[in-house]
Amino acid sequence: VVGSDRKQALEDLRPDTSLTLELSEPETAAAQIARFAAEHPLRAIIPTDDESAVVAAAASARLGLPHNPPEAASAARRKDELRRLLHAAGVRTPRYGLVPTDADPRAAAARQAYPCVLKPTFLAGSRGVIRANNPDEFDLAFRRIAALLSRPDVREKGREAAGQILTEEFVPGVEVAVEGLLLGGRLKILAIFDKPDPLEGPFFEETIYVTPSRLPKGSQRTIGRATTAAARALGLREGPIHAELRVNDDRCWIIELAARSIGGLCSRALHFGTGLSLEELILMHALGRDVEKLERERSPAGVMMIPIPRAGILREIRGLHEARQVPGIDDVTISATLGTPLVPLPEGSSYLGFIFAHAPTPARVENALREAHRRLTLVIDTGP
Ligand SMILES: Nc1ncnc2c1ncn2[C@@H]1O[C@H](COP(=O)(O)OP(=O)(O)O)[C@@H](O)[C@H]1O
Ligand SMILES: [Mg+2]
Repeated sequence: VVGSDRKQALEDLRPDTSLTLELSEPETAAAQIARFAAEHPLRAIIPTDDESAVVAAAASARLGLPHNPPEAASAARRKDELRRLLHAAGVRTPRYGLVPTDADPRAAAARQAYPCVLKPTFLAGSRGVIRANNPDEFDLAFRRIAALLSRPDVREKGREAAGQILTEEFVPGVEVAVEGLLLGGRLKILAIFDKPDPLEGPFFEETIYVTPSRLPKGSQRTIGRATTAAARALGLREGPIHAELRVNDDRCWIIELAARSIGGLCSRALHFGTGLSLEELILMHALGRDVEKLERERSPAGVMMIPIPRAGILREIRGLHEARQVPGIDDVTISATLGTPLVPLPEGSSYLGFIFAHAPTPARVENALREAHRRLTLVIDTGP
């Protein structure tokens, strides 16, 4: 059964397999799910993003299914709440402050230590995340984020959270992403991805993810421990998590922890056991099957989120065939639609596409992704 905030085209024909939900109102959506489940019993509720994670927790609580405490899922959705809980539990995470969007940015800039990062509290995909090295950059970044937060669609999504901007100390270092599955409060690490492109700002566009990590085993254990501590600090217990950490001098900083699996199409880079997808693994766990022993396949793998080079109308993508010919490349998928505008970060929110690779070493995965990307030419009409 697919629950979605928009009505599915065939919902009237198949009322038992789709359900329109008020996803932005978790309690309302949970009640809608409970009503549906009274007639069509559900055995598990699986969220697909930060917003539906809160709904899934609330609905599972009503139906008596294993779930995350609803407060934990809500906290994972709010970056300010996440920081507060991590600090309270003594988990290393950036120092932070909250500034109302209608405050005087100059006054806030004067109080801030630098470098820092400004960001909305509830968006994803690095949307609205901007580094500032001094008060002038702070002022510009603040106004830019405030403008983004005042857009009607963003305001509606964020509600009162759209009235605040999070300011954080900038943490230098390399960045990793952790994909994990909580099994009754214990964390099973599914993959640690290196992000070999430096993420230094001012914007933080995600590009390459490669697993297994090339960091020393000791650092990887520290990453695992920090992620476990963070999940515990929030109170998350069950199901997928996606975390981002920075590592410097062998110390780990939690940048983010979400109660969902990896975004976009990135999960296609992962296979478990005899070829199960990440989604199948998550479903099996939700249905109470034992997934303890399932490990990611041996072969190093990676994905590149194709960067959006500039704003404009995407007219054509050349070199797809050539990119797919690169040894190690499994697929190149374009998710943007030709003829529609591309919006780069920090305002943009959609992916251009994904490149997937497998190779005998992580370095060769990375090289294959870079070579495939080099063979693509994006024809973007930037107008007069
Ligand atoms: N305090 C920080 N210090 C250093 N880099 C940061 C910090 N906050 C965010 N970033 C960078 O910005 C990226 C996106 O920020 P994040 O808080 O994860 O937002 P999102 O939910 O949009 O992914 C991070 O992956 C990281 O590279
Ligand atoms: Mg993030």
